[in-house]
Amino acid sequence: MFYRPEDGHGLPHNPFNALITPRPIGWISTRSTDGVNNLAPYSFFNGVAYVPPQVMFSTTGDKADQDNGKDSLANIRETGEFCVNVVAAAAQDAMNVSSATLPKDVDEFAHAGLTPIECETIKCARVADAPAALECRMTQIVRLAGETNYVVFGEVVGIHMRDDCIVNGKFDATVYQPLARMGYRDYTVVKDTFELIRPDE
Ligand SMILES: Cc1cc2nc3c(=O)[nH]c(=O)nc-3n(C[C@H](O)[C@H](O)[C@H](O)COP(=O)(O)O)c2cc1C
Repeated sequence: MFYRPEDGHGLPHNPFNALITPRPIGWISTRSTDGVNNLAPYSFFNGVAYVPPQVMFSTTGDKADQDNGKDSLANIRETGEFCVNVVAAAAQDAMNVSSATLPKDVDEFAHAGLTPIECETIKCARVADAPAALECRMTQIVRLAGETNYVVFGEVVGIHMRDDCIVNGKFDATVYQPLARMGYRDYTVVKDTFELIRPDE
């Protein structure tokens, strides 16, 4: 089939994000200027450059108690800082609980039963037992077409890796098994990997 998004897909559910899979989940922690920790998953997320290392995530949609966007975006606008926590398969329930739309003064670490630990380079909490965490300084917030669609870019200024995930000098995904987002309500877990050597290597 072929469809133009402006005309509609005619299917029971929007297939768009099922076509872009699997997506890594950036579990974004921030802190409001009132000192409230915030945590939420974002799967429109990726790394975008090596030197300096940079990441992006995009936030879509409004929230009743914020002016323009969600709590994560509001906090980053105020503080310029955020941390990306990597989500292990074992954290699937806590990750899901932390995605609830809650009033801005609710701390999702407490709500999801997670232990916050202070970041090294930014004034923000991270998920204590996450396999990895990327401490970021926001570089740009880009407004996209449509209502309340924004991309947040950040430079990674500090990187945590859990020691047990480093095997023979490599960060080994099979140790913690990354949780990733598919379309609809579906997820997948990375359990094995294989190598391909590039033609010019
Ligand atoms: C796995 C997963 C991925 C999500 N990805 C996104 C995303 O990429 N962009 C977005 O705006 N919301 C996304 N959401 C929804 C947000 O997590 C949800 O709106 C959350 O309440 C936002 O929290 P905040 O207001 O504290 O930032 C996702 C939810 C889940 C469960």
